[in-house]
Amino acid sequence: KWKMTDFAESMIRKLKQTLGDAKVLCAFSGGVDSSVAALLVHKAIGKNLTCIFVDHGLLRKNEAEEVEEVFHRTYDMDVRRIDAAERFLTRLQGVADPEQKRKIIGEEFIRVFEEVAQDYQDVDYLVQGTIYPDVIESGTDKAAVIKSHHNVGGLPDNIKFKAIVEPLRTLFKDEVRQVGLALGMPENLVWRQPFPGPGLAVRLLGEITPEKLEILRNADAIFREEVANFNLHKTISQYFAVLTPLKSVGVMGDSRTYDYTVALRAVITNDFMTGEWARLPWELLEKVSYRIVNEVKGINRVVYDVTGKPPATIEWE
Ligand code: XMP
Repeated sequence: KWKMTDFAESMIRKLKQTLGDAKVLCAFSGGVDSSVAALLVHKAIGKNLTCIFVDHGLLRKNEAEEVEEVFHRTYDMDVRRIDAAERFLTRLQGVADPEQKRKIIGEEFIRVFEEVAQDYQDVDYLVQGTIYPDVIESGTDKAAVIKSHHNVGGLPDNIKFKAIVEPLRTLFKDEVRQVGLALGMPENLVWRQPFPGPGLAVRLLGEITPEKLEILRNADAIFREEVANFNLHKTISQYFAVLTPLKSVGVMGDSRTYDYTVALRAVITNDFMTGEWARLPWELLEKVSYRIVNEVKGINRVVYDVTGKPPATIEWE
């Protein structure tokens, strides 16, 4: 761990030197990588960093609030949360096709970011949470922390930056977590699982509605809570609930129900390219199933996904 404390200290020094009193912008997702990257830059230049946090309304239960709370209140970072849930949901209305959903969310994300960035015309740099595995994949210069702004996909093109700042380019995921801990980030944020950009949209099969999102959020929160209670949150690489469009018959008390099925997904993997389904304890599955059916209205059946990757992907869409 001391090695990462060293890394953090020397990176902060380096950023201070390079960035001087430049204005810096960060597209903030609240994920581990973007948080740690932003925190390093914040420690170096303070209020000259503004983080724009586009809340697309597809985050997990309480997630946006938690992220805002920690970074705004604890670190006094300039985090500007943009509540764009309604915009995203409106554009997603009636869309059931997975690729279509992803495309709409990606486009809308850039559009919102572009609009907000209009207020920051004097910005010089953009921070990104790129980590070493992404660098290997893209085959660019490995050591350069700051690189000129070209061949970067998925960025708005109406905003002009001098360069992109990527303080985590040389680190693996577990090292990024160590840096986060060294910077005093709370454990629950550091051990946050990977979360796809399109968020819950790819875990809610079929058309997205506010009601279904609510069901999925509540089921997912129960699953995550119990995984932590069983102390498995650091061992399982990724675990979440999926809301299927499947309705089936059940019985609750004296009456018949006709409600949705929730699937639980938990995987063990090193690289997320391949992986196996986690052999969760029966007791955990039993507890989660019992709680979900009893606490989440609209669910009367819980199933467990026992498929590896390949042939299945980790996400369901
Ligand atoms: P799959 O489902 O392809 O996912 O096995 C592999 C890993 O990638 C994550 N994932 C995404 N991450 N944007 C992201 O940032 C995306 O669109 C996206 N889709 C999948 C997934 O959660 C898993 O960790």
